[in-house]
Amino acid sequence: MGRQVTIKDIAKEAGVSIATVSMIMNQKDKNISDPTREKVREIASRRGYVPNMMARSLKTRKTRIIGLIIPDITNPFFPEIARGAEDMASTAGYSVIFCNTDDKLIREDTYIEILTEKTVDGIIFAHSADRADMEFSACRVPIVLIDRDSGASSLAGRVLVDNRKAAFSGVSYLIQRGYRRIAYIAGSMTTVTARERLEGYRDALAAGNLDWDPALVKKGDYRSQWGYEAVKELRDEGASYEAVFCGNDLIAIGAMRALREMGKRVPEDMGVMGFDDIYLAGTATPPLTTVRQPIYDMGYQAAKILIDAIESGEGKKKGAGAAECGVSLILDTELIVRQSTR
Ligand code: RIB
Repeated sequence: MGRQVTIKDIAKEAGVSIATVSMIMNQKDKNISDPTREKVREIASRRGYVPNMMARSLKTRKTRIIGLIIPDITNPFFPEIARGAEDMASTAGYSVIFCNTDDKLIREDTYIEILTEKTVDGIIFAHSADRADMEFSACRVPIVLIDRDSGASSLAGRVLVDNRKAAFSGVSYLIQRGYRRIAYIAGSMTTVTARERLEGYRDALAAGNLDWDPALVKKGDYRSQWGYEAVKELRDEGASYEAVFCGNDLIAIGAMRALREMGKRVPEDMGVMGFDDIYLAGTATPPLTTVRQPIYDMGYQAAKILIDAIESGEGKKKGAGAAECGVSLILDTELIVRQSTR
């Protein structure tokens, strides 16, 4: 077994600089000609070149790996976030380690510790619930929050949507369609997204001169079973309503299953609206009217902000107030009208 082939050997044989070989190996070679790229790759392959990851990371103190912490891998919303993040990361020559916390706060701490020990260069974080200690100044790598904001400072950035405005637009549409008694089945109220959507729901009722009835607000979690159970609870409580705004599409799908069991037709007897526009929304029976979040783009932009921060050495802004922290991106949502509302 001869000595390990180095990029210096490849550069010598190819007649190019070491920097050129390094850029080609790190896929940061958009300004290098195709013939040069092909020649270097052919030599590297023929001579069995294997990048020495640890040597590289020790030298640059970068591993070109980022972590993505999400709360519920079983909810199609989060894998779509992951797809966008990974697509961006791979074009920049980074890999992604996915961590599912299963909505458990203790796992968040564990994963942040593991990821920083595994010397990832940065973390994209969708936390499972609010935490008083949502502070990252102790974390040695930059962090970008996604989807669920918090008052944390020392962040490299955050990628969100305006949940209050999005919920307002969705419920206002229901009111425009003639619905007056509208229920809200919320996700977990320990998440800022569920609370902001409640505010948007109430804003829309007020704008439509409709009273808000606390008995028509059910608070649970972002799972389909909760939507099913909440509709049954509303029935058992004798609630009178003609449409339901749901905290996400999984809740809406569960709600429609319960309505079907109760002999209620959607939308003829009951309008149903979701939130997210995961792929299941379009394939539901009937296809779901929902508020679309730009899920893939949220993941893509979060990875871009994080990698820019890593590459620029900016990392996180230590101690800066939340307002000044890094890059804050608020992406637009869109109302998608299908057949679950009249
Ligand atoms: O479906 C999961 C929900 O939790 C989404 O609406 C997303 O915004 C997250 O907060």
